[in-house]
Amino acid sequence: MQKMLITTPIYYVNDSPHLGHAYTTFIADMLKKHYSLQGKEVFFLTGTDEHGQKIALSAAKHGLSPLEYATKISQVFRAEWDFLKIDYNHFVRTTDKAHEQAVQHAFDFMLQKGDIYKGVYEGDYCVSCESFATNSQTCPDCHRPTTKVAEESYFFRLSSYQDKLLEFYEKHPHAILPLSRRNEVTSFIKQGLYDLSITRTSFEWGIPLPKHLNEPKHVVYVWLDALLNYVSSLGYGADNAKMDYFNHALHIVGKDILRFHAIYWVAFLMSLELPLFKQLCVHGWWTIEGVKMSKSIGNVLNAKELAQSYGTEALRYFLLREAPLGQDGDFSVQALIRRFNADLSNTLGNLIQRLAGLLKPFNGKLESSHILEHYAPLYATWQAQLESLEPYLHGLQLHRYLEELWRVFENCNATIAKEQPWVMAKSAPTKAMALLALVATFLAKSVFYLYPVLPESTAKLAKWLGVDLTPENFKACMQKDYLLPALKLAPIEALYPRLDEVQSIPKFKEAPSQAPQEVQDNFIKFEDFARLDIRVGTVLKAERVPKSDKLLCLQIDFGGQVRQILSGIAKHYNPEDLEGKQVCALLNLPPHKMLGLVSEGMVLSASDVGGLKLISPLEAVENGAKIG
Ligand code: ME8
Ligand code: MG
Repeated sequence: MQKMLITTPIYYVNDSPHLGHAYTTFIADMLKKHYSLQGKEVFFLTGTDEHGQKIALSAAKHGLSPLEYATKISQVFRAEWDFLKIDYNHFVRTTDKAHEQAVQHAFDFMLQKGDIYKGVYEGDYCVSCESFATNSQTCPDCHRPTTKVAEESYFFRLSSYQDKLLEFYEKHPHAILPLSRRNEVTSFIKQGLYDLSITRTSFEWGIPLPKHLNEPKHVVYVWLDALLNYVSSLGYGADNAKMDYFNHALHIVGKDILRFHAIYWVAFLMSLELPLFKQLCVHGWWTIEGVKMSKSIGNVLNAKELAQSYGTEALRYFLLREAPLGQDGDFSVQALIRRFNADLSNTLGNLIQRLAGLLKPFNGKLESSHILEHYAPLYATWQAQLESLEPYLHGLQLHRYLEELWRVFENCNATIAKEQPWVMAKSAPTKAMALLALVATFLAKSVFYLYPVLPESTAKLAKWLGVDLTPENFKACMQKDYLLPALKLAPIEALYPRLDEVQSIPKFKEAPSQAPQEVQDNFIKFEDFARLDIRVGTVLKAERVPKSDKLLCLQIDFGGQVRQILSGIAKHYNPEDLEGKQVCALLNLPPHKMLGLVSEGMVLSASDVGGLKLISPLEAVENGAKIG
């Protein structure tokens, strides 16, 4: 059986997990389920990245030792994945002894090979990205201020791998997906690579160098440490027990850490004389109103909370279906509800219920033997549609994969509407049965494609149809002449009940003696509301923010004070149309930085299917008027 490794990044433990982390982890889980159904033996690896200056600072802020703090947050990640039913095989912590030994082993190997030398690092460092930025006061990646460092350091001869890296990407044009990311990497390499500082001496929270070097001041740079998790988890540096999974490794990462994987990791692997990964899949970011969701901006949504409100599968389906994998996607609850109701309740859910309902006159008994006699051309068309899915998956066009899969369900629904089997049931019962059996047969085939995305509900669907989700059955069901064996289908529960879009508002509502606890938990105190400083102001100036297609930078007059507020509305408004207009904004938010600019508040808006609209008073009021 072919072995395969699928990984997520190991996430920093400076803060708890958010929707972005869940997204990457859902992709990995989906791919694991798909490839397992194809008969591959998949090892799915995730975990937490626990060393480095950033974690040490967070721990200190919380009054805990770095290890105590890391242990606490690492457990939150693990609990989150358990809640979301992520089926990982190993959860690595970079504070695991086995990992630390593997890192020291790798360091020794590179040193003995002559790829590591001692020197002095003088330059700038971004603590947030844990990356070196030569001669730059702001980080080229996250635009935060860098700090000056001048310290003794060991260096990795990255420069000597420049040509080998280019050669690798030349020979393996599909090593990075999407292809545009590969071009970004190769042009970066062509600009010239500097040797990389791989030890730090100005703090202690990291893996010490191998003992025999007698260098107690140095700890291993956190990215060398972190990247090695992908092999330390397989027994590298010890018994190598699972290293054969690394012969077919698929890494899934966000675009923020492309360079670390596409350049440093490949060079490290070359130096260690290990096989190189098969593919690096680079996805875009989830944004909220156009702004990247991130812990440091503070606009994060938690996946577990969303799953508790709308269901894990609704969330998983939405994230995988809504945005093309390589591009950014904007998250909103409205969009999630719309997508769920349209695709899952209406299209797939209805199809299943219709099939169950239409079988009632036949006492639920399904008989497939006349399918081809009546519906051979439809069978062939739908079969071809299912067979076209695989390339989308290999190209990681997961949204297209789901779109095409849904075409089969749409076709099933349309054919039922056109053929009217409820009429045929009386005049031509054999043909009516052939149609219902055709639909059931294609649902059975489709279950194998659905399961990786909607594991819980489709396991029920598979059971209903009498299909075991095994690789052998996947092959058998996908044969060009497969017919579902005769079976009796009982009624089935609604698998995708609609999510409520708008709560209906009763005309009169009597005061209950005591609101139930969960309702009470949703109320805030009046004093809490009064603390929100929401005011009306007039836009004096609006401009696009360079390098962002989403952000506008607004100068707003709140009567006596002019505030600069960044807002993710560039796709909805032309800057010139806003000048002179009154808007409402929340002012007592802590100022935060985006793309090097400060934002001192948040402009209020409402969005629906038609897009996003700013909130404005019905009639003009004085600038600075408080909203209450
Ligand atoms: O970078 N949208 O950890 P990290 C989509 N420890 N995905 C997002 C996201 C967003 N808004 N925000 C984060 C690190 N992610 C290192 C990795 S690997 C050897 C070391 C996801 O906690 C995405 O996968 O900052 C991104 O690459 C990762 O979380 C960064 O997680
Ligand atoms: Mg990050």
